[in-house]
Order: sequence, then C-alpha cells, then structure tokens
Amino acid sequence: MTRALVFDSGMGGLTIADELRRAAPDWVVDYAADSGFFPYGVKTDAELRARLPGLCAALVDRAKPDVLVIACNTASTLSLGDIRAQVKVPVVGTVPAIKPAAEQTRTGIIGILATPGTVRRAYLDELERKYADGKTVIRRGSAGLVDIAERKVRGQSIDQEQVTYAVKPLFDGLQGQLIDIVVLACTHFPLIRDEIQAACPPHVRLIDTGEAVARQAIKVAPKTERSAREAVAYVTGGAANRAAMAPALGRFCYVTIEVVDL
Ligand code: DGL
Repeated sequence: MTRALVFDSGMGGLTIADELRRAAPDWVVDYAADSGFFPYGVKTDAELRARLPGLCAALVDRAKPDVLVIACNTASTLSLGDIRAQVKVPVVGTVPAIKPAAEQTRTGIIGILATPGTVRRAYLDELERKYADGKTVIRRGSAGLVDIAERKVRGQSIDQEQVTYAVKPLFDGLQGQLIDIVVLACTHFPLIRDEIQAACPPHVRLIDTGEAVARQAIKVAPKTERSAREAVAYVTGGAANRAAMAPALGRFCYVTIEVVDL
C-alpha cells in the first residue's frame, strides 16, 4: 500500500488530497498544513525559501511517505527544486494549468487566478513562454480569495460579494471581456469553485490541476507493499491551531491530527 504526503500552507491542498484518494482509493493519503505560517501568498520569496525545504524534509522524516505532493502553487513555483534537493522521495509539484488552458481556449485569451506570490513568479513567465505562445494571459493575484476559501472550509460564513469583488478585475477592459478560460492557480480556489464561477461571465470555464497532479503522483510513486493504517494530518502552529482545524480536517477524513513545530 503506497503512502503519500500532501502538503500545503493550509486547507487548499485538501482539494488535491481528495483527487488523489479518488484516483488511488487504496493509498494512505496523509496531509500536512503549514498553518502556523499561513498564508504563503503574501510572504516574501526569501521567507518561503528559508522555510520550505527544511520543513518538507522534517515532514518527510516524520510521515515517511513514498511520494511527497506539494499541493501549493505558491510553494511549487518558487521552491520545487530546493525541496527536491532536500528529500529522498519523489516530489510532485502543483503549477498553474497554463498548457491545457492554452490548448482549449477559443478566444486566445486566458485568465489566471492565483495568489499575489504566484502571479509575480518567473516560473509563470516561463510556463507562458513555453505553452501559451501567441495567447494573451491575464493574471490576477488575490490574497482575499485564499482567506475566503479557508473560512468556508472551516465552516464560517462567506460573502459572494467579496468573491465577486476579488474576481471581477480579471474581466475589466476589452481583452478581459474575451477571456473564455480561467485557471484556478491556487489549490484553495476549488474550495470556492461555485462562488468563483458565479463571479465570472457565464461563458467562462474554470480549470484546475487536481486530476493532473493526482495522475503524476501515481506515475512517479514507487510500488511498495506497506501495511495499511489510518491517514494522519500534521499541522504547524501549535495545539490551538490543531483545535481550530480539527472540525474541517475531520470532514476530509482526518481524525488523527499531530502538531509539528519547527
Ligand atoms: N494553496 C496555496 C496555493 O496553491 C497558497 C495559499 C496561501 O497560503 O496563500 O498557492
């Protein structure tokens, strides 16, 4: 039985953990949330670079997965190479679905919704150069949407008007009106997919990377015969954070929650 560890800054990676459980129902899918350092989208590159490789190495030591899934665009577009250099298991990243968006757009104009960190990454420039040559890509970074998604999954009330306020600027201007595909380039956003869809013009289609990441994890994971056990969630930020996250993690099947502090 293969063991995966799915990692994110908060609850967003649960959308990837769900896809992985669907695609590989016999796997043990552990989860790790760096909730003590959440949100990543507004941290500086230097702060994230200093934290991510060491934290991921410590989590891998603790959970002993066969494959590590970085279920966070903000982390993957900055630190995938550094994380790979620190851990001995295969590492799968989550990066914006620009390639499928460029293949599927009819108008040639694509929207990207991501965190403020992801929208300014050189990695995104590179993806555009490689896969979206000749297309127009309009980026919108929003920390507000991450916060709204996190509140929703914790069972708190959210406001459609705030979602609309965050999404609407993508469609401002002549080119914006021609966007036909919006890439959900933050793993938190599928948690508020319906609200984001309601904030877009009706012809707009949303795409994300969940299925592709799950497929890649299955492809690179070594075949192992480990014994079955209950999936575990790890959180940073102390016992108070664990208590705050327990109800939401429970809804995603995580009953055992351990605190990791670094
Ligand atoms: N879920 C993360 C992503 O995919 C980042 C959210 C945050 O911590 O700002 O980018």
